[in-house]
Formats: sequence, structure tokens, C-alpha cells
Amino acid sequence: MRPLIIAANWKMNTTPADAGELAATIASRTEEPGVIRVICPPYVCLAAVRDALAGKNISVGAQNVHHELAGAYTGEISAAQLAGLATWVILGHSERRRDQLESDELIGKKLARAISSGLRPILCVGELLAERESGRAVEVVATQLRGALAGKEMEALLNAGFVIAYEPVWAIGTGRTASAADAAAMADAIRATLSADLGWGDSAEVVPVLYGGSVTSANIADFLAEPAIDGGLVGGASLKPDEMAGMVASAAVTARARAAAEGKTA
Ligand code: PGA
Repeated sequence: MRPLIIAANWKMNTTPADAGELAATIASRTEEPGVIRVICPPYVCLAAVRDALAGKNISVGAQNVHHELAGAYTGEISAAQLAGLATWVILGHSERRRDQLESDELIGKKLARAISSGLRPILCVGELLAERESGRAVEVVATQLRGALAGKEMEALLNAGFVIAYEPVWAIGTGRTASAADAAAMADAIRATLSADLGWGDSAEVVPVLYGGSVTSANIADFLAEPAIDGGLVGGASLKPDEMAGMVASAAVTARARAAAEGKTA
């Protein structure tokens, strides 16, 4: 059974002075069994969030990592520098693809670094609106996956707990979401790409696929009702404790239902 995951991407929000309190509030409002919770604050807030979450069974992630471990890379942060601060990392977010011009090849190098450094990666993929409207969404996402995963060992990725987030670019921060059916169809296409194109076979089934793009407590149940979707990567709503409480509660209901369907306890 795949885990249920709610990952908070705080983007360029919060400061070292307020991030710890927000994280602690979210932690206390989201204590539900069966759901993996991850908070990804800005780099400068990692220490405060780590301290606030100590002993609370909620993980801390970075929003990016450099592919080299050290060197002359002004303004960058390496996996070695994240040791002790973060155990997860978001890679290939569409805002970085857009603003920092990150390519699939570069994202692949970051992915290799994440897994060799013990960081659990969330690889983001997703199409632009024009690409969806012209019927190329699946092809675009498959190309992103093949580009980032080229040359990677399936075993190493699986051991690292590799997670994929499907985030249609036109749904991020817009209040507009993909339909749950379209998101589920893409999750199926993602696993089909891993299984067939990349030769993962049945192992593709163990990879969690999250949906991201204007997820809220009001719409997350629609996505979680799709068996192919295993949680959310949440931006705007993840800064609001009420919203996080609602989303994690919804994921916990799903975790229980899926466990019951398999005759297990969540
Ligand atoms: P959003 O962002 O929830 O604000 O749309 C999601 C993301 O970019 O990960």
C-alpha cells in the first residue's frame, strides 16, 4: 500500500521569526494517523521549523538543492549543507523551471544528489495550459520524467522513497484545479511511463503520486477519492493551519478507507 502524503510548500513565505510558530501550530492541528506530513519552508527558516517540529513526527523538506556538494556557486545550497536541517527535498518545481530555467537534465542531477545524500525527493512535473489544450499534456510529462530519470537506478530511487508530484502549471496559485479525473489519468500515465518507457514494470505501482495546484481543504477529498492519487503538494493553503488541518484530516480518512479495503489498519 502506498503512503498518504500531505506536503506543504511554503515557497518564499514566512521568516525565521515566525516560521517556527506556524509549523508548531500546524503540527498540533494535524495529528492524524496514517498520513505523512512534510513542511518545506524557505532555506532560512529550516532551522526554526526543525526545532519547532522536534519530536512531532512531521518531516522538514527543502524547496531545492544544488547538484554539487560544495564549491563556487554563489547563492546556492548543497545537500551537505542541508544535513540535519531537512530530510525531504522538492525538485523541479515549475516556478524554478520557469524562473531559474531548470532543465530536465539539471533536475536529474539534483535528483541523483538527493538520493545519494539521503534526501527524500518529490519530483514535480506538469504541463503548461497551451500544452494541455493542444492535447500534449501526457507527452510533456513523460518527457520530463524520462529527462530527469535518465540513467538513474530504479532501486536507488525506490530506496530513497521517491515521490512524484503532478502539478499542472496552469493550476498553481490560480484557484483553478485540474479535474480529479484528469489528475488521476495523469497519475496513471506517469506510472505507465515508469513501468513501460523506463522499464520499472510493476515497481511503478509503489511510487506515490501527489496532485498539486490550488489544493485546499474544500477540494482535496475529490483528488483523494481517486485511487491513483496519494496526497497533495500544497502551496497557498499550506500556510493556513485551518486548511492544513482539513487537508490532513481528509487524507487520514482516505488512509483508513484504503487500509480497510486491504484488510489492514492505517
Ligand atoms: P498552490 O501551489 O497550492 O498555491 O497552487 C502548489 C505548488 O506550487 O506546489
